[in-house]
Amino acid sequence: MSLTVNKIAAAGLTAGVIAMTAGLIGNLIITPPGYHHGEEDHFAYVIEGSDAPAEAAVVEEPGVEPILALLADADVEAGERRARACTACHAFEAGGPNKVGPNLWNIVNAPKAQVPGFSYSDALAGIAEPWGYHELNLFIADPKDYAPGTKMSYGGMRNVNHRAELIAWMRTRADSPAPLPTEEEINAAAGGASE
Ligand code: HEC
Repeated sequence: MSLTVNKIAAAGLTAGVIAMTAGLIGNLIITPPGYHHGEEDHFAYVIEGSDAPAEAAVVEEPGVEPILALLADADVEAGERRARACTACHAFEAGGPNKVGPNLWNIVNAPKAQVPGFSYSDALAGIAEPWGYHELNLFIADPKDYAPGTKMSYGGMRNVNHRAELIAWMRTRADSPAPLPTEEEINAAAGGASE
C-alpha cells in the first residue's frame, strides 16, 4: 500500500519536472534572439528597421516616372498644398521676393537661372534647356541627380502623382499659364524619354 503511494508520488514529481523542463525549452525556442521579456516595443522596432533596405532600393530605381500624361487631370488644389515643401525657400507670386531660392512666378518654360537678382550656382546656369514640364519633373524628383552641385538643399519629391499635382499648380502661377502637353509630347515621353 505504502509502495503504491510512493509510486504515485514519484510519478507526479516526474511529470512536474518534465512539464517544467518542456516549458523552459519552449521559452528558449520561441524567444527570438535579442529579445528580452518586457521589451515588445524594442522587438517591433527591429522588425520595422528590417524594411528599410527595401525602401532604399525603391529610391535608387533608375529613371524618373514621366508626368506629362498626368498633368491635365492633376488636382491643382492638392498641388498648392504640395508646394508647402517649397515655400520656406521660394515665393510663387508675381513680383515676389527671392528668398533662399529664386521667386518661381512664371517658371514653367522659363530659361534656367534667369530670375533677376538671384545668385545661382554654376550647376543650374550650365543647363541649357528651359524649365519645361519634363525638366521640372526631373529636378523636383531629385535635384542633385538632375543638377549635380545645385545649391537647392531639397531631397526630392519621389511620388509621381504629388509631382504632377505640384507642377500643375506651378503652371497656374504665371501671367499666362503654359499650354498643357500635346498628345504627341505625351507619347514621345512615354516612348523612352523617362530618364
Ligand atoms: C532649402 C531651400 C529650398 C527648398 C526647400 C526648395 N528649393 Fe528650389 N531652389 C533653392 C535654391 C537655393 C535654388 C537655386 C539653385 C542653384 O542655383 O543651384 C533653387 C532653384 C529652384 C528652381 C530653378 C529656378 C531657376 O530660376 O532656374 C526651381 C524650378 C525650384 N528651385 C523649384 C523648387 C520646388 C518646386 C521646390 C519644392 C518641391 C523647391 N524648389 C524647394 C532652394 C530651395
